[in-house]
Amino acid sequence: MEIIIQPTADDASMIAARHVARLVRDKPHAVLGLATGSTPLPMYRELVRMHKEQGLDFSGVTTFNLDEYVGLPPEHPASYHAFMWENFFGQINVQRERVHIPDGLSSHIPAFCRKYEEAIVATGGIDLQVLGIGSDGHIGFNEPSSSLASRTRIKTLTAETRRDNAQAFGDADKVPFHVVTMGVGTIMDARHVIILAFGDKKAEAIAGAVEGPITAMNPASILQMHPVATCIIDEGAATKLARTEYYRWVYDRKPDWQKL
Ligand code: F6R
Repeated sequence: MEIIIQPTADDASMIAARHVARLVRDKPHAVLGLATGSTPLPMYRELVRMHKEQGLDFSGVTTFNLDEYVGLPPEHPASYHAFMWENFFGQINVQRERVHIPDGLSSHIPAFCRKYEEAIVATGGIDLQVLGIGSDGHIGFNEPSSSLASRTRIKTLTAETRRDNAQAFGDADKVPFHVVTMGVGTIMDARHVIILAFGDKKAEAIAGAVEGPITAMNPASILQMHPVATCIIDEGAATKLARTEYYRWVYDRKPDWQKL
């Protein structure tokens, strides 16, 4: 795993945005795996700026979002459908029919999940998957103890995650208990994975993911087995890593042609 520590969340997000932009320029029909939550917001803002000011073209891009709450209609303000259209899709030229977000209202969730997996395969697979991380180490909504080989399916949120996500609902009691999420195995199939984390609230989860043993108790730790994983974090999220000097040393010596 490459570990890139940046002074601020904005600096880290610029690097992530440049990775996405380079892929979209090199491969106009790229397939992106996307996350919601507070973490990717500065990256989406930068990509919107690149679209508006530099003509970054998303018209051929296909997207698959990681997850959605079960029981929320797409127009619910706390749904991940609403989040994505407000913060990203509605501000770029992505084609509506190329956008995929799990359906929280499906009447047959297992069948929907199978189709979601098939749709990813039919596009040729995800080129770049962007991830945040939960304070408990979840990726997507694969909570601790999730199978590290799991595929898209229904999951039950932990009490910690429901508390963390309460803001969008105004009240922790209103956060749904269930979600549809890509599995850890689905995420691992992406050709490149970028995981972002900002603030000291994420420091422990990042330390476990990067330096801890690979364990379903910290699902992000499976990224140690991914051939092309990039962890881009700010100083706060780096505070519990043991080998920060080494990671900085490696990044500072990266050949210019490899830097973004
Ligand atoms: C969101 C997702 C989650 C979040 C994680 C961090 O689609 O899959 O794994 O990335 O819960 O959320 P924030 O960024 O709000 O701290």
